[in-house]
Amino acid sequence: MNTKIFHISLENPEIEKLKNAASYIKDNKLVAFPTETVYGLGANALNEMAVRKIFEVKGRPPDNPLIVHVSSIEMAKRFIKNDIDEFSRLTELLWPGPITLIFNKESIIPDIVSGGLSTIAIRYPAHPIAQKLIELSGVPIAAPSANISGKPSPTNEEHVTNDLKGRVECLVLSGRTVFGLESTIVDLSKEKPNLLRPGPISVERLKELLPEMTIHSSVKGEEARTPLAPGMKYKHYSPEIEMILYDGELDWAIHNIIDETKKMKVKYTILCSEETQKLYPDPSKTVILGSRKELYSVAANLFDVLLSLTKNDYEVALCEPFPETGIGLAIMNRLRKASWKTVKR
Ligand code: TXA
Ligand code: MG
Repeated sequence: MNTKIFHISLENPEIEKLKNAASYIKDNKLVAFPTETVYGLGANALNEMAVRKIFEVKGRPPDNPLIVHVSSIEMAKRFIKNDIDEFSRLTELLWPGPITLIFNKESIIPDIVSGGLSTIAIRYPAHPIAQKLIELSGVPIAAPSANISGKPSPTNEEHVTNDLKGRVECLVLSGRTVFGLESTIVDLSKEKPNLLRPGPISVERLKELLPEMTIHSSVKGEEARTPLAPGMKYKHYSPEIEMILYDGELDWAIHNIIDETKKMKVKYTILCSEETQKLYPDPSKTVILGSRKELYSVAANLFDVLLSLTKNDYEVALCEPFPETGIGLAIMNRLRKASWKTVKR
């Protein structure tokens, strides 16, 4: 398939190119586009045939529902049963932004989007190109992350191009995404709000707004008894090399990583931080994820580092733990999903 590629400037989005990309959505074709979290693979959420193509291209199981992206709070209202008293208070505080909210769904959204569930996940992204694309398309855009199922989500132009060039009609590219991890997901369709996926909007912030919010057991990597977000039952993000996460206190982890690598006969690398790199005997055998003083930097680099591990011929990657505060909870959640093995004290 011939893929039309638009490079669009974040500072000064070229409106003609965006109109052209929107015409693909209107024609029920697939368009990959940037958001502030990760790149998405979008289609007209109101058209069943268009949405079906997303599942085909990604190789995504049909019971794993998609997020519907809107360009205003008003637009979101059309797709949900308005039975949440707090809808306005919450959406005005949190949207646009890197957070997805789940509501009871109106029947105008085809069942294929929600994988047959009676609920719908909705997000109003803060990214100007995403907003404009939805606005110009005139329809809500259903979009999972723009990767082939089972790989980390794409956070730069190269990741999207590698996975989707030649497989979809159109790519809208605009450099690196800001956060580098997928949106926080909160289910508001049940009696109590439930955090299904940690992300850039932290639990600490959400607890201020929703003190009664519970946290799904899968968030900390425990086995989910009932996979509320159907995506949670699939193993995600596994790099094709063996990744070992040292899941415990930092000093203990560094000590054990050093011990383990002394015995290693295969080509390995250590995933560490700016602050800890100097503690390892051979810094050339480390990759820095970011700074512990600014965990957002770790989040922003994480998927790119995981994807690059496969390109280099490492056999094993040993990874330090990060504190589970702020975006750190999301970092540890993705690291646990990515690792083949976790070592605990
Ligand atoms: O940041 C993001 O959220 C990105 C950008 C493109 O918006 N999208 C993204 O989509 O990460 P995806 O499909 O890779 O992850 C969406 C997750 C899946 O785990 C899915 O199971 C869950 O959301 N989900 C979608 N609709 C749901 C629903 N009605 N109930 C529970 N979970 C749902
Ligand atoms: Mg995904």
